[in-house]
Amino acid sequence: MVKNPFLVKGYISSEYFCNREIETNKIISAIENGRDLTLISPRRMGKTGLILHVLNQNIIKEKYYSVYCDIYQTQNLNDFVTVFGNAVINQLEKTPDRMLRKVKRFFSGLAPSFSFNPLTFQAEIDFKIINTKEAENTLNQIFSLIKDSKRPVVLAIDEFQQITGYPEKNVEALLRTHIQRMTNTRVIFSGSSKHLLAAIFSDYNRPFYQSTQLLTLPKIDKSDYSEFISRKFGNAKRSINEDAVMHILDITRTHTYYVQYLCNRLFESGKRKISVEDVNKTLLGILYENEGYYYSYRNLLTEQQFLLLKAIGKENGIAQPSSKSFIQKHRLGTTSTINSAIKSLISKELIFKEDNKYLVYDVFFSLWLKLLY
Ligand SMILES: Nc1ncnc2c1ncn2[C@@H]1O[C@H](COP(=O)(O)OP(=O)(O)OP(=O)(O)O)[C@@H](O)[C@H]1O
Ligand SMILES: [Mg+2]
Repeated sequence: MVKNPFLVKGYISSEYFCNREIETNKIISAIENGRDLTLISPRRMGKTGLILHVLNQNIIKEKYYSVYCDIYQTQNLNDFVTVFGNAVINQLEKTPDRMLRKVKRFFSGLAPSFSFNPLTFQAEIDFKIINTKEAENTLNQIFSLIKDSKRPVVLAIDEFQQITGYPEKNVEALLRTHIQRMTNTRVIFSGSSKHLLAAIFSDYNRPFYQSTQLLTLPKIDKSDYSEFISRKFGNAKRSINEDAVMHILDITRTHTYYVQYLCNRLFESGKRKISVEDVNKTLLGILYENEGYYYSYRNLLTEQQFLLLKAIGKENGIAQPSSKSFIQKHRLGTTSTINSAIKSLISKELIFKEDNKYLVYDVFFSLWLKLLY
């Protein structure tokens, strides 16, 4: 077991998980009522954690089989079929024997190879797909394997926006057709590139148009998070004063990953009583540790882009970057260069818009920028 109560990756159990009751219930209700659902939020807000939390609830475990599949690394239909097929077979069939039998039965025409990875205890299936036709056939078989399941299935596809970058043009339509036919399956789509993912489901001309319920994951409520943080330190016979907790939530904008990371490092410090000063010291340590990354971001940007990014960080976000006062204060050049720099910073996912303000996406990077001259 992990001795630090603040996880910075993955999911273990509700004990390590703060709140999300409303969202958990919304997703369970969608599943129970036969609706597919799309979960959207900025990066690192807690989508994957929430999905795994939902799949870990007894009400789901007792009635459904679940398949969680992360397609972040896929770049084309073949990749998708391989990752998806492996997730389905590994998670629907619990024993190697049954797995092998199923693979033989469902993929007989395709001669996939089958091996066990002794490190992950997972089966690895190579479908040996060589062209799109074969990929489509294999996909058919994977969906019929799901259809064959003895229990209804909850299928979570994480980082679903990836499919918009595949070179094959028909993937959305193909998946939509399959998913529409799967009466025993509820799907949770999830992802973070807001415009990409939202477009899949809200463009009138696209196959998934309005086919799912949308759920935008908000930040965790401040008072719930503060109670969670105090309790976790308390359980370890340590204390953190209220000002320090509030300071953590303020400087991290209550952005889940950054709260978790800062608390993880504070916990690691072993201090018995934690104050605002300790928070600041730990934060500085993190920023210096990450400096290498931050300089490399800088090298990827033009001088204009970096100046603008720094200005946004220094101001803790800006509503109108082309306003005269902002431009003059930070010596940013002309409105048109700012507009194009904004576009490019958004597309590089270095800034994003929240409550009508542009913010530096990475909270720690943003705080580091504030330290610069
Ligand atoms: N409710 C929660 N309570 C405590 N920790 C959480 C909670 N939700 C997520 N976390 C933790 O916060 C971090 C980020 O969460 P997660 O990976 O789920 O975010 P994400 O939105 O899926 O991010 P990405 O867009 O990068 O995939 C992880 O370390 C996770 O363990
Ligand atoms: Mg995730």
